[in-house]
Amino acid sequence: RTVYLNGDYMPETEATVSIFDRGFVMGDAVYEVTCVLDGRLTEFDGHMARLARSLKELEIPCDISRDEWLEIHRKLIELNGLQEGGIYLQISRGDVGDRDFHYPPAGTPPTVVLYTQSRPGLSTDPKADEGIKVISVPDLRWHRRDIKTVQLLYASMAKMAAEKEGKDDAWFVEDGFVTEGSSNNCYIVKNGKIITRQLSNDILHGITRSSVLKMAQEAQMEIEERPFTIAEAQAADEAFFTSASAFVMPIVEVDGVAVGSGKPGSVAKRLREIYISESL
Ligand code: PDD
Repeated sequence: RTVYLNGDYMPETEATVSIFDRGFVMGDAVYEVTCVLDGRLTEFDGHMARLARSLKELEIPCDISRDEWLEIHRKLIELNGLQEGGIYLQISRGDVGDRDFHYPPAGTPPTVVLYTQSRPGLSTDPKADEGIKVISVPDLRWHRRDIKTVQLLYASMAKMAAEKEGKDDAWFVEDGFVTEGSSNNCYIVKNGKIITRQLSNDILHGITRSSVLKMAQEAQMEIEERPFTIAEAQAADEAFFTSASAFVMPIVEVDGVAVGSGKPGSVAKRLREIYISESL
């Protein structure tokens, strides 16, 4: 793979970062994952807008413009012949020269890394025909989940816990309500109405979420933005999640209880079709 590091394109084996980098030592970094379908970027502007917001919230200085980001993304797609998959982008606060809780002095350049991840067959994932199974776990993450930081240890632990039980993913629950999935936004459907948690600092403001809700609205589907419980999900007609890397994914089981018929629901299937066809 040819990757991007701080202004240069190079083989991945030559891309190295300091052991003092704050991304490595403190998890002091933000990221984005932008999907590539048929060699083209999807939702590019949405991801770059959220990136700018994450950087601003954490006061990480980075002066790369939207057009420069676009050029880097396109060049990586071209250099790697990427057809289907994604581009991972990470910006950390940079190398401080030593471990230190203080932010580095003004003018310290951030560490900017981008690389492609090839995922052939992403848009025809058979998992979407079967639906996936989730377990619930308490949401023990920090309270700024609206910022897309690389602090993904708990999300990773949740995913491993699900797999240990033979399931696919985990839903986080806080104060009795589902916040989101380990790396996605969650929805249930009851009597034709799509229910999903409203935006706040409790969840990541999914780019796919925003597009899918817009598409649902255009298709005259009813939407209610409010928190829901695990019991409500288990009694729902269907459930699904959204993310840049899986689009719309039907969920057929929550904590061992089948949702609806135990098969992917019609709303999730329809939204997945609309989303993929509009992205291609
Ligand atoms: N994850 N919630 C969380 C906690 C996420 O990590 C993600 C994305 C989402 C969905 O956001 P979007 O629709 O913008 O992808 C919601 C990415 C895909 C990842 O970590 O790989």
